[in-house]
Amino acid sequence: MPGIVIVGAQWGDEGKGKITDLLAEDADAVVRFQGGNNAGHTIVRDGVEWKLHLIPSGILYPGKCCVIGNGVVIDPKVLIDELDSLRARRVDIGGLRISANAHLIMPYHLLLDSAGEAKLGSLQIGTTRRGIGPCYADKAARLGIRVQDLLDEKILKKKIVAAMEPKRLSLRPYEKDPSLDLRTMTEEYLTYGHRLEQHIADTAKLMWEFLGEGKKVIFEGAQGAMLDIDHGTYPFVTSSNPLAGAACVGSGVGPKNIDEIWGISKAYTTRVGAGPFPSELHDEMGEKIRSRGGEFGTTTGRPRRTGWLDLVALRYAANLNTLTSLVITKLDVLSGLDRISVCTSYRGAEGAEFEDFPYHQTVLHHTTAELTELRGWKEDLGECRTVSDLPDAAREYLQFISEHTGTPVALVGVGPGREQVIWTEAAQQSLLTRDGRPASGQPSAL
Ligand code: GDP
Ligand code: IMO
Ligand code: MG
Repeated sequence: MPGIVIVGAQWGDEGKGKITDLLAEDADAVVRFQGGNNAGHTIVRDGVEWKLHLIPSGILYPGKCCVIGNGVVIDPKVLIDELDSLRARRVDIGGLRISANAHLIMPYHLLLDSAGEAKLGSLQIGTTRRGIGPCYADKAARLGIRVQDLLDEKILKKKIVAAMEPKRLSLRPYEKDPSLDLRTMTEEYLTYGHRLEQHIADTAKLMWEFLGEGKKVIFEGAQGAMLDIDHGTYPFVTSSNPLAGAACVGSGVGPKNIDEIWGISKAYTTRVGAGPFPSELHDEMGEKIRSRGGEFGTTTGRPRRTGWLDLVALRYAANLNTLTSLVITKLDVLSGLDRISVCTSYRGAEGAEFEDFPYHQTVLHHTTAELTELRGWKEDLGECRTVSDLPDAAREYLQFISEHTGTPVALVGVGPGREQVIWTEAAQQSLLTRDGRPASGQPSAL
């Protein structure tokens, strides 16, 4: 021990990459436990931007143990491209370990993802079309192909045949697609196996060893609570569990190994893809937040939908994850507003007020946000490094979030740069801070 989980507390893109990179400085290992290359995690160091899709956000520390856990679905081509591009930028990737039990995204998963969306027409989910859903479906159907299968040609071929057979009908339009040729596919995947072999390991055992020796392990989530396949806005969700509970299953450790759970949230809300979003703004303010916050998808480049901070959803996420700390990113984006609104409850179609996230999809789809107005501030926050540097109104905003969610705010993001962060007193209690002291700044209470 200790194990610290970092999860998205909204609909993804909250800044998990930046925070994981920051906290990984004092950690011994970083492990991704779910999702795949639908994720896009951004790190900005010394003005240089890094975008990671599959590789954990600890990779920029030379030799740091970075694990792709068994719960992740891996497109090996994307992984190899990512490794090559890091190597070309002189990043030491020697610490990367890949679970032999992780499932592989195959060419037919990509085709099925797009075909599924096309079939849904106006009801489509707006997936990233990276084959995530079909891959997890095959895993559940026990037709999945795993990383370890890349090391055995005979098994690989047999498994591909078995996996493609039941999809014959849906794959018919792609019959002539060269990527579906059994021989070509097997050869291609065997080549990937050769490339990745040196990184393949029994990663669960590795985690037991690290945690057993008292080393610090960060479990890096992808997506966010509201995209969770069980508790999110189903069916407008991803196909895995981005909640802290999945960190154990997706990496092979037990719940007793988790000591802290940090939820990341922007100071407002965004969502990519379709689905309910009660606090969405369709006006000039929404556009202002999108352009000031650079709200365009890291993976697909799609414009993100924007809205006020949804505290009903955030409190729900705090409960689903038992968050021990909150990190509020992008507070800087809200500078310059006279008033800032936050969604504190939902109003149903028949006038009922919901303070808790409604469990019924039909109810949720017809709710609108009830807003509370708070004071805004004019000052640019980019240079703030301590709580006392923040304008009073910004501090009040953070206090309001903390009180409403019952969770202390440990870190505040005031810009994309690694150094643009404020450590509060709450962070001082964390096991992640070296010798009980934060890595930078003099912390104080909000
Ligand atoms: P992730 O998927 O949760 O890792 O988040 P993304 O990388 O997809 O999106 C977050 C975006 O916000 C990235 O472009 C980050 O560089 C940027 N970012 C992170 N924290 C802050 C912050 O505090 N302020 C500002 N202005 N940008 C931030
Ligand atoms: P990170 O880790 C934001 C969304 C997609 C779509 C839905 C299902 O960067 O926060 P999928 O391809 O997973 O089947 O798509 O989930 N989605 C994300 N939205 N951030 C992500 O990852 C996402 N990964 C998937 O836009 O609505
Ligand atoms: Mg992202």
